[in-house]
Amino acid sequence: MMTQLKRSRIYDLLKGQSDVTIGEGVNVKGWVRTKRGNKNIAFIALNDGSIIHNIQVVVDVSSFGNDGLLKKITTGSCISVYGTLVESQGQGQHVEIHASDIQLYGTADPEKYPLQKKGHTLEFLREIAHLRPRTNTFGAIFRLRHALSFAIHKYFNDQGFYYLHTPIITGSDAEGAGAMFRVSTLDPKTPPLTENGAVDYSHDFFGKETNLTVSGQLEGELGALALSNIYTFGPTFRAENSNTTRHLSEFWMIEPEMAFYDINDNMDLAEDFLKYLIGYILEHCPDDLAFLAKMYDKELVERLNFVLENDFVRITYTEAIEILSASDASFEFPVKWGIDLQSEHERYLVEKHFSKPVILTDYPRDIKAFYMKLNSDGKTVRAMDVLFPKIGEIIGGSQREEDHEKLLGRIKDMGIHEKDVWWYLETRLYGTAPHSGFGLGFERLMLFITGMGNIRDVIPFPRTPLNAEF
Ligand code: 4AD
Ligand code: MG
Repeated sequence: MMTQLKRSRIYDLLKGQSDVTIGEGVNVKGWVRTKRGNKNIAFIALNDGSIIHNIQVVVDVSSFGNDGLLKKITTGSCISVYGTLVESQGQGQHVEIHASDIQLYGTADPEKYPLQKKGHTLEFLREIAHLRPRTNTFGAIFRLRHALSFAIHKYFNDQGFYYLHTPIITGSDAEGAGAMFRVSTLDPKTPPLTENGAVDYSHDFFGKETNLTVSGQLEGELGALALSNIYTFGPTFRAENSNTTRHLSEFWMIEPEMAFYDINDNMDLAEDFLKYLIGYILEHCPDDLAFLAKMYDKELVERLNFVLENDFVRITYTEAIEILSASDASFEFPVKWGIDLQSEHERYLVEKHFSKPVILTDYPRDIKAFYMKLNSDGKTVRAMDVLFPKIGEIIGGSQREEDHEKLLGRIKDMGIHEKDVWWYLETRLYGTAPHSGFGLGFERLMLFITGMGNIRDVIPFPRTPLNAEF
């Protein structure tokens, strides 16, 4: 009879959202976090990943009979429990389960299973990324990652944006955002060669050189110049050798692109979007946030609320250079007009000078991509970067150059082959329009939302230089 029961999620039972009421039969399945007790009674803390909290399973050892089975139930093992849902006598939970039958799906040898009760360092957990989702920390992070992804789609859908799928394999490095990973099916030992001895990619799978995309923007622009408002949300790849706590070789990016938006509309959207996402997480994920705040970052919730409640500062790059030059902070990289701002500069502005998120605009054209709209001074472009406390750059975006002549000039200046981007240029010949967009680094936002310090800990399976395990 018992075995006819449908499995209940531990989330629903603990939140009082279950069809099963006190006194009724219940079935839960999950992984054992701890088992304690004595020869008369055993307490099993069971977690199924639906919620940070465990449900307590109480076993009356004497009436249970199968003592051999109980011995095999250790930390990490997987079980199915049938029993009765009862009000809990203990602190911290409303309900618990009095077990009448337990089925053991999988044991976890206590001598070998690496996730015993003691705390583990994040470094160690990275080495066992196949098991770390079973810890409280990574359960919380991955549930937050889900909630944030969902909120991103909800925000854009509610605002009338269309989700555009841009390709992962691209035939051009038009973005110039960084080194790329080649995609090829040629035999690396004996590739076909041209007369000059170079690899002849005309014999490759696509008949040309191809790479993993660094950004969906250029294709996103094609979508915006037809559907008005689109966004992409997908993986992007950068083969830079940046071994920092804020860089991944494979990361997820959200790139909205909007026809008829100028740079101010673009900044308004970026600010509203970030605040919506933070508000969504504060409202929908309090348990996971509270856990991460307790374990890693006491000021986490306060910081999220602060960003939610305050206007972002908006200043130009030139004003930022003046502030940095006038400060008495000693920077490793000297400040002068024209430099690409380093994270020390960005963090000085955000954390020391303004103590607020900052949007910097109008960067020197020579340190930005070819597609950004040139200002009338001829020296700066309509770029905007959003800088966040503890993170630095979280968003990079711009108003785009919509003038065919000017865009072609920039493409030639920067040595980009016209034949690689002919399709992009054509949008400026046929019904061109003012338009803008930006890219939000999903894992950078995850760092901010979770308070974690290393980007390797906010993505399930990080790819970084010399690391593609799992
Ligand atoms: O500033 P980026 O390079 O801008 C673009 O790719 C534009 N095409 C975006 C657009 O206008 N549609 O990258 C955008 C954001 C950065 O602000 C940062 O948050 C994140 O992507 N990012 C990275 N995140 C993790 N690891 C890396 N290696 C990253 N590189 C950029
Ligand atoms: Mg950037």
